[in-house]
Amino acid sequence: MKKACITGTGSYVPEKVLTNFDLEKFLDTSDEWIVTRTGIRERRVAADGEYTSDLAAHAARRALEMANVEAEEIDFIVVGTITGDFPWPATACLVQDKLGASKAIAYDVSAACSGFVYAIDAAVSRIESGRSSKALVIGAEILTRVVDWQDRNTCVLFGDGAGAVVLEATEEDRGILSTHLHSDGSCWELLYQPGFGSRNPASDDGLKARLPFLRMQGNEVFKIAVRSLSDVAIEALEANGLTSTDVDLFIPHQANRRILDATAKRLGLTDDQVYINVDRYGNTSGASIPIALDEANRAGRIKKGDMVLLDAFGGGFTWGSALIRW
Ligand code: ACO
Repeated sequence: MKKACITGTGSYVPEKVLTNFDLEKFLDTSDEWIVTRTGIRERRVAADGEYTSDLAAHAARRALEMANVEAEEIDFIVVGTITGDFPWPATACLVQDKLGASKAIAYDVSAACSGFVYAIDAAVSRIESGRSSKALVIGAEILTRVVDWQDRNTCVLFGDGAGAVVLEATEEDRGILSTHLHSDGSCWELLYQPGFGSRNPASDDGLKARLPFLRMQGNEVFKIAVRSLSDVAIEALEANGLTSTDVDLFIPHQANRRILDATAKRLGLTDDQVYINVDRYGNTSGASIPIALDEANRAGRIKKGDMVLLDAFGGGFTWGSALIRW
């Protein structure tokens, strides 16, 4: 059976930097509180007129360039996002148009912060079954447009960005070794966006009640996130007969520093095995893992043959891991 191999990575973050000190100017918060509780120092904010499909297309072009693949060769585009340009059509279709990837089929995956790992799983299935040979897998978000800037409990945590990989079929014994996904819909109310879907359709009252903005019960999410991230990372290692010492680079969803540290500790990973950039971008949901992967790749932190473990947790709840031999 063919394997799916990452042949190019790319990422893009908007130019505008919003620091914790900038937040202090309009919110009852402090740099000290945010850094201590989350490790976040700054995040990026998309410009007026810049949309999720723009961020995704920028990241995708960089991944295509690295892979030396033309957009017309791509047969599958999947975007993990919960902040697409529109509720529909899929942002993946808009990206297809922007890239001129006319041969591709394109759709979005809605799995919140696990969106990229879920999207990888979809692309791996298509490639391993022979239905696709060159796929573009993207995580892209503009969360700053769905957070409530009056709610200090949540708005300080999130940021905007996009990351992408090109996945190609290979006969070599490397690439995505396995993916492991889980969902638990019983916890949906701990992290969600109440409006405006079919349950709370658009209305002036709904806007006054701030329904279009993200809501989260942070303490509860924290505990479940650490447990789930650890369990599904161990699941990936055990499925491949490995232990945490075999991991060259662990790339977890960049939710916040305390979640990352607690997860790494449970897994027995050392600091130099774990990639962290949450300090610079905050939580970019589905975009966080592919941004980190691209940064690590371009910085030379990943070499051929390295074992890379991706690990995600997000609203739904959804969680998942992907083990890669680079
Ligand atoms: N600035 C200053 N004070 C604040 C802020 C802020 N930005 N936000 C909350 N506080 C206050 C609260 O009002 C509360 O005050 P009180 O004691 O007077 O009531 C106090 O700080 C403590 O609040 P807690 O919510 O208990 O703070 P906690 O230590 O739990 O930290 C946090 C909150 C950072 C959100 C934490 O719960 C957390 O990290 N949760 C995980 C959330 C997360 O990362 N979610 C995303 C993961 S899943 C995904 O990525 C989709």
